[in-house]
Amino acid sequence: MKKILIQFAHPAFQRSLVNRRLLAAISNLENVRVNDLYELYPGFDIDVKREQALLVEHDVIVFQHPFYWYSCPALLKEWQDLVLEYGFAYGEGGDALEGKLAFSAITCGGSREAYSKGGHNHFEIAELLAPFEQTARLCGMRYLPPFAVHSSHEFSEPEEVDEHAERYRDALFGLRNETFDLDALAQQERIDDRLHREKGRGLP
Ligand SMILES: Cc1cc2nc3c(=O)[nH]c(=O)nc-3n(C[C@H](O)[C@H](O)[C@H](O)COP(=O)(O)O)c2cc1C
Repeated sequence: MKKILIQFAHPAFQRSLVNRRLLAAISNLENVRVNDLYELYPGFDIDVKREQALLVEHDVIVFQHPFYWYSCPALLKEWQDLVLEYGFAYGEGGDALEGKLAFSAITCGGSREAYSKGGHNHFEIAELLAPFEQTARLCGMRYLPPFAVHSSHEFSEPEEVDEHAERYRDALFGLRNETFDLDALAQQERIDDRLHREKGRGLP
């Protein structure tokens, strides 16, 4: 079984509806560890050695966060700046992350249609996540298509998120148990798209 690390960043988790429900659905999965960055480092005093050791221990790194100004909350950016050091994540001798998988799991206020060339936000989610993709690539990791929940403001009860939470859980389950064809997965727009279509046809 692969080991999965959820690098979770939400600066106002007490007010979260969507991310709270997503986490609840996956946090009891064996071999899945949630690393809550804002809970650990409210003053941005990141323990770089601890974070690097966690990365080394895991095979799949998930960046889960609400989409803030078309990117991640500030602490995750600070985490990238401090933890992905030269000689650890890239550069001479920097091969600690080589061969790991990574992807983004984001929640957005905007609808899926809004994230398109003709839409309100003009760019696709995958295009806006390009810095995450290229960062992973520079560090020798394979960056997979994102998981995304849209139109977050339309949810008023936690149960309304359950379909998405189940899809998130299924995606992590498949990566953990290595039941996915990663080359086929890489062609999809979203990590859970095919899985969703095949649900009920034999997938776990
Ligand atoms: C500071 C801030 C910036 C935001 N920027 C975006 C954005 O760029 N695109 C978007 O779709 N939603 C944006 N939103 C909406 C959040 O992504 C949305 O409220 C969140 O994903 C809901 O998840 P939660 O219930 O776990 O908090 C923003 C919200 C805040 C507070």
